Amino acid sequence: MSPTTRRLGILTGGGDCPGLNAVIRAVAKTAILQYGIEVVGIEDGFQGLIEHRVRPLGIKDVSGILTRGGTILGSNNKCNPARYCTGRTSTGEPIWEDCTEKCLTTLARERLDTIIVIGGDGTMACAAPMAKAGINIIGVPKTIDNDLVGTEITFGFLTAVATATEALDRLHSTADSHHRVMVCEVMGRNAGWIALTAGVASGSDVILLPEIPFDLRMIAADIEKRMRGPGFAIVVVAEGARLKNGQQVIGRYDPTSPDPVRFGGIGNLVATEISDLTGIETRTTVLGHTQRGGAPIAADRILATNFGFHAMALLASGKRNRMVVRENNIFSDIDLFETVGKQRLVPIDHPLIAAARAIGTSFGDGAGSIVPKPIPAALV
Ligand code: F6P
Repeated sequence: MSPTTRRLGILTGGGDCPGLNAVIRAVAKTAILQYGIEVVGIEDGFQGLIEHRVRPLGIKDVSGILTRGGTILGSNNKCNPARYCTGRTSTGEPIWEDCTEKCLTTLARERLDTIIVIGGDGTMACAAPMAKAGINIIGVPKTIDNDLVGTEITFGFLTAVATATEALDRLHSTADSHHRVMVCEVMGRNAGWIALTAGVASGSDVILLPEIPFDLRMIAADIEKRMRGPGFAIVVVAEGARLKNGQQVIGRYDPTSPDPVRFGGIGNLVATEISDLTGIETRTTVLGHTQRGGAPIAADRILATNFGFHAMALLASGKRNRMVVRENNIFSDIDLFETVGKQRLVPIDHPLIAAARAIGTSFGDGAGSIVPKPIPAALV
């Protein structure tokens, strides 16, 4: 941080996520208690900079928020200051305005030359014009999707996995009672981290990831085998999962959003096809925003606190435009813009996929499914 930094801004951008308040608390308390710096909260992400909506954050404001879901500052995943939608023309076309100057004016009026930006790749991209104009941006990686490049984990992910796992556990008992196939759609955009991790944690029978295109006939065959055994089956499908022809199911398209595509509907498609191909009764559950809401689990509270603390340590060491990351369990930092426009997908040779395949989990691709391999000679 520059030796003259006496005030620090903090904003939360993009979709909300469990642990945001824990980061805000860690940053604000460290700034105030360790460095004597004033902290200013910016409301509703970059929208608050455009509209000059900020408020002071004192120790009292950030006490008691560690366990609270959401963000006390509000967030926004539709606001890119450099390409901000101010309305529509008579023919319905979005009207765009570059609001970067408005943001810089707010920062100047608030005497802020440094902001902690808590967000994903989209939020970091939105911060770029301000960094170019000389504002020091320190990023903290947030998303339940766990798909940010440069960090092995983002906060919020483990809570989303815990929520999805609990839901899948509950679907098990009702699937068992009714001898049904239960299909559960989980979030994650183009990355299958939530589906893979919750799928393995819940012992799901079929896990469908965007990274492994699936074949509905293979899924149907795997489910028929499973029905001959336990008599029910659980399928977890990532919202961005692809059919073998590459098709994904888009739920909504909003051209005014920096991330215009929202996935949704693959669960219903898979359930309908399974039912048509096998004749087995099938139901769909879409977990949606339940995965983003609610209190962070203990691991996320700790991760978020560590990220907040390390963000302040980065500032104190004088670094500029960096994002705090964790790799091999060690906190460090990378160039803030290294994540922009990229996604950290699940590698198809990920050890958890190998472990799942070994216990008979189907990924809908016919590879390594329920056919047992010969026992290696060394084990006989
Ligand atoms: O990136 C987080 C995420 O929850 C994705 O998993 C999901 O696709 C998207 O945000 C949903 O966004 P919205 O809140 O705009 O519906």
